[in-house]
Amino acid sequence: MVRGRGATPAVEDVRLPAPGPGELRVRIRAAGICHSDLAMVDGTVAPAYPLVLGHEATGVVAEAGPGTRLAVGTPVVLNWAPACRACWHCRHGEPWLCAANTGASVARGETADGGPLQVTLGLGALAEEVVVPERAAIEVPAGLPPEQAALLGCAVLTGTGAVRNTARVAPGESVVVIGLGGVGLAVLTAARRAGAGPILAVDVAEAKRDLALAAGATDFLRSDDTLAKEVRARTEGRGVDHAFECVGRSVTIRAAWRSTRRGGAVTVVGMGGKDDLVSLSALDIFHSARTLRSSVYGSSDPDREVPELAAALADGSLDLAPLVSGAIPLDEAPAALDRLARGEGARWVVTF
Ligand code: APR
Ligand code: ZN
Repeated sequence: MVRGRGATPAVEDVRLPAPGPGELRVRIRAAGICHSDLAMVDGTVAPAYPLVLGHEATGVVAEAGPGTRLAVGTPVVLNWAPACRACWHCRHGEPWLCAANTGASVARGETADGGPLQVTLGLGALAEEVVVPERAAIEVPAGLPPEQAALLGCAVLTGTGAVRNTARVAPGESVVVIGLGGVGLAVLTAARRAGAGPILAVDVAEAKRDLALAAGATDFLRSDDTLAKEVRARTEGRGVDHAFECVGRSVTIRAAWRSTRRGGAVTVVGMGGKDDLVSLSALDIFHSARTLRSSVYGSSDPDREVPELAAALADGSLDLAPLVSGAIPLDEAPAALDRLARGEGARWVVTF
């Protein structure tokens, strides 16, 4: 839990309400630490505090409120953007843009001393237990490795959806992925599964090289001013068909833009800050004929795609082991956030 902007997160006791009508209490088994958690600690995004972090998790239904469908004991993956199925976006096949999902934290439960409490994206999953609407819990098969299953709820759904749904990468197309955290590594994994090639992986941290190659990259490039030139050298001078920006910064969005061929597509997966402006020349926008768009939650329908990914994990056709740096206890989560800030490792997953 974090008590204010810039404060050091700490493990604290909180009081959760009993599940009301349509709600579940879920005992968390594993929860990933995502860059968005860091953004909520350092104030890049401005949630209300005190705030329980965490929005990427798997667990088991521990208590079912009145009128719910899932039985106690059902394994679930949590969904931070449950679709209302009634708003304009939901009715027009864009559940990831559901109007009911504001991306804000939600007031739920209270601190140990009786003060107000917020939970990240309606979940607050870096905790032993959560109380959530049933719509935010997606049933998955029993027996999945928990630290891999947790990633289905954010990094993997986002990265896979960016490749399949937003960019629609086709076999043989060339790809560059900039930023190799959990999200970027998930994009690499999905690009490999889509039959793309070459798949160029880019990071400022040299230590990401082996992780990138394990996740599906064909080449690793250090991120610097010569990146676009290096990418062109590997794509017959053109630039890639698809660039995926998985950092969330204007400088990397511009690098992605410059690395893409004429007529190619840039997909922004990283969530940047509101004051970080991207500057592109009007002539270049016209002449390059490139597409620039973002991928929110992988342009996915989690209710359909999380079970598909879970089935692939269960039958072994999807291997997320390269995305998991390690399973850690909850009291090591603050240190893992520091490692994430330094770009160390892939995903750190808290297990309970
Ligand atoms: N060029 C290339 N890579 C960079 C650069 C840069 N200029 N700056 C940072 N990186 C790398 C870091 O070294 C790190 O490997 O980007 C990676 C970011 O990884 P994580 O911090 O683990 O972030 P992740 O959880 O994967 O999320 C990435 O997607 O969902 C959003 O909010 C999330 O904006 C964030 C992005
Ligand atoms: Zn996330």
